[in-house]
Amino acid sequence: MHGPENITSGGAAVDAAITSRRSIRKFLSTPVSRDQIEHILAVASRAPSGTNMQPWRVIVLGGDKKADVQAALMAAYNERAPGHDAEFKYYPAEFPDPYKARRRTVGWGLYGKLGIAKGEKERMFAQQGRNYVFFDAPVGLIFTIDRVLEIGSWLDYGMFIENIMVAARGHGLDTCPQVSFARYHKVLRDQLDIPDEQVVVCGMSVGYADPAAPENELVTEREPVDGFTRFLGL
Ligand SMILES: Cc1cc2nc3c(=O)[nH]c(=O)nc-3n(C[C@H](O)[C@H](O)[C@H](O)COP(=O)(O)O)c2cc1C
Repeated sequence: MHGPENITSGGAAVDAAITSRRSIRKFLSTPVSRDQIEHILAVASRAPSGTNMQPWRVIVLGGDKKADVQAALMAAYNERAPGHDAEFKYYPAEFPDPYKARRRTVGWGLYGKLGIAKGEKERMFAQQGRNYVFFDAPVGLIFTIDRVLEIGSWLDYGMFIENIMVAARGHGLDTCPQVSFARYHKVLRDQLDIPDEQVVVCGMSVGYADPAAPENELVTEREPVDGFTRFLGL
């Protein structure tokens, strides 16, 4: 079942599922079924985790419930009220290079595709707000983790999330992972009865990419392997 022959024969398909994944920021209204999501989550839950702790908890949003949650999130976003912050630090306060340069490249790459120029703050604000309607995707996922768990479990969590995105690709679906949701954890707690013991990690849009949308044309760069790897003895 898990012999090397399977790995070899499926290699190209696995590579394609991984390398064809991109963060999609405009989805078609084509529905995604509960069965599809359940299957992907079951596959993704084969992710490894330290001592098999499986730290992931997922809330799947669709239909009217998703619409209600989006409305509450958009209201909070458009109010521009202070007091909405993630409960953990995703980014450092200062970005040294090369991270700063990469971040700029992707930011301006996206705004460039959308024709948003430097200084067009309102258009940037509106585009960022599109996170909270799950970029029009039919399904939204919200991920939470038990507050008592440590950084190691967050590492496990990342593997689970990547598995979801790769498994989705294998079924022709597209995704966008979104830390933006962590910021509005109070709104999400209220809307989704998330207990205090759980921290909102991030969210994800799931659906079919709109092939006509300029924001979906963005293909981000990667360093070549020799830029981040040292081979020793091989
Ligand atoms: C954990 C995580 C959170 C992210 N949060 C957001 C987000 O809130 N909004 C967004 O548009 N993109 C978000 N992204 C997408 C990144 O910008 C994207 O992965 C990166 O630019 C590389 O592009 P690619 O995913 O198309 O390869 C997130 C990615 C990760 C891994």
